[in-house]
Amino acid sequence: VKLTSYVDPLPIPPVIRTTGKPNEVIDVEMRQFQHKVHRDLPPTTLWGYNSSWPGPTIEARSGQPLSINWISKLPTTHLLPIDHSIHGAESSLPAVRNVAHLHGACTMPDDDGYPEAWFTAQGEHGPHGAKFNPRPSTYPNCQPSTALWYHDHCLGITRLNVYAGLAGFYLIRDEAEKALNLPQGDYEIPLMLQDRLFHHDGSLYYPKVINGPKEHPIWIQEFYGDYNCVNGKVAPFLEVEPRRYRFRIVNAANARFYHLRLFNSDATGKIQNDSFDTPSFQQIGTDGGLLPAPLQLHYLLIAPGERFDIVIDFSGCEGKSFSLVNDAPAPYTMGGQYLAEDVLLFKVNKPLSSQDTSVVSETLVPFEPLVPTYTTRERLLLVSEKERPSDGYVITGLLGNARWHEPITEDPTAGSTEIWSFINITGDVHPLHIHLVRFQVLNRQTFDVPTYQQTGKLVFTGRPMAPESNERPAYKDTIKSYPGYVTRVIMRFDLPHGAQVSPGDELLYVWHCHILEHEDNEMMRPYKLIV
Ligand code: C2O
Ligand code: CU
Repeated sequence: VKLTSYVDPLPIPPVIRTTGKPNEVIDVEMRQFQHKVHRDLPPTTLWGYNSSWPGPTIEARSGQPLSINWISKLPTTHLLPIDHSIHGAESSLPAVRNVAHLHGACTMPDDDGYPEAWFTAQGEHGPHGAKFNPRPSTYPNCQPSTALWYHDHCLGITRLNVYAGLAGFYLIRDEAEKALNLPQGDYEIPLMLQDRLFHHDGSLYYPKVINGPKEHPIWIQEFYGDYNCVNGKVAPFLEVEPRRYRFRIVNAANARFYHLRLFNSDATGKIQNDSFDTPSFQQIGTDGGLLPAPLQLHYLLIAPGERFDIVIDFSGCEGKSFSLVNDAPAPYTMGGQYLAEDVLLFKVNKPLSSQDTSVVSETLVPFEPLVPTYTTRERLLLVSEKERPSDGYVITGLLGNARWHEPITEDPTAGSTEIWSFINITGDVHPLHIHLVRFQVLNRQTFDVPTYQQTGKLVFTGRPMAPESNERPAYKDTIKSYPGYVTRVIMRFDLPHGAQVSPGDELLYVWHCHILEHEDNEMMRPYKLIV
């Protein structure tokens, strides 16, 4: 089917606003439900938190803990084909298993959604279920205002569970943000970007391939869909007033990178050539919170897992329309055959309901740079690809040259500062995400890949390059590791606020590639924080 872009209005996910009472607990239920993703398609069967795709936007307050009961009311059969040859997805396990992770949260391991802490609607649980999943999960929210997002994280089937619809926004608010008087209320809109494929009957299509001679895997290297869904609708439109809007963007796609630009277009989304007077757009925040100062940008490059906080000023644009278009090759950066261009159409056709008093100040929030000292430990971590030993024809990504089940090699001490240097010898950009921490990007540096492959020696071929203007000064939790570059990040492994620990405790977290097909198939490693 060829679906027409910009015929459905953008949905806004329901909001759960916390009351601010101490020890608040909320229930969120995962359920199978039906939802129209496009005007011309029959309803699609999906899985959603509180029967919604995306799930409800949870609004928490900085410094006020919130507990969530993640409850499964899902059926016992999966919506999508499972590859049982992947670790943690063996056919002996219940087909439907879930565990929710709050991406970007500083939280204790028991509440972090460890991939083996899965559970089922019937009360079964994974190897770490008993220890790591004492529902409800408590989130201390001991971090500044930002956009986090929650999604499923079950070992071996994360890509399928998220694809089925299990993802939502989690916003943390604080006083510093409030004082800035940014656009808010109806003028602050979350945008969850995800690409999808659908069958004619509306059902979700996730391709399955049989690789090679043996009746074997149903795993694809990366999923790319023809249609971009924003908040669960195929390329929708949004009617706006001529004023400032704040957009909280997350790339929640399985594998697609978005390189986004705004174009002048007509009311149907057709791009017009005079692309000069497009409205200005400013980035004000990223994964870990607000930037120290807004940045004027002409495009955004968003990898899976990353968040961007932007303000678009539509004032003076009455009657105009602007389309938000993606032109990133897939896989990023060397692919090209999978383009899903149309994302969202803004129509400035609503009258101004009241004067726009919001502002984007020249300074936003302070940034404290972490600087390497002689005590800062640097870990060199290889980002590579290898044939799977079990069959030799499935190429999987590896981190630190080790598979999921191999002994833990990353073991930072609580409170210490470390540099993690990702040495990418693959041909793709991998968005690497480390749980628990907010890190800062230091630099990127080219090196000689063949020499590294032959001798294991790191021979640099250039000087360290400064990160992008929206990567530093900024707090990040997901970073693009480019092929042929060493990408360095620095972070302090602080314990969550109020952590009850004793010396010698080992807290278990993970770090992984956020391309979900990679994450599901070995490109994820546990790490332990030593108290
Ligand atoms: Cu967005 Cu470990 O995940
Ligand atoms: Cu990857």
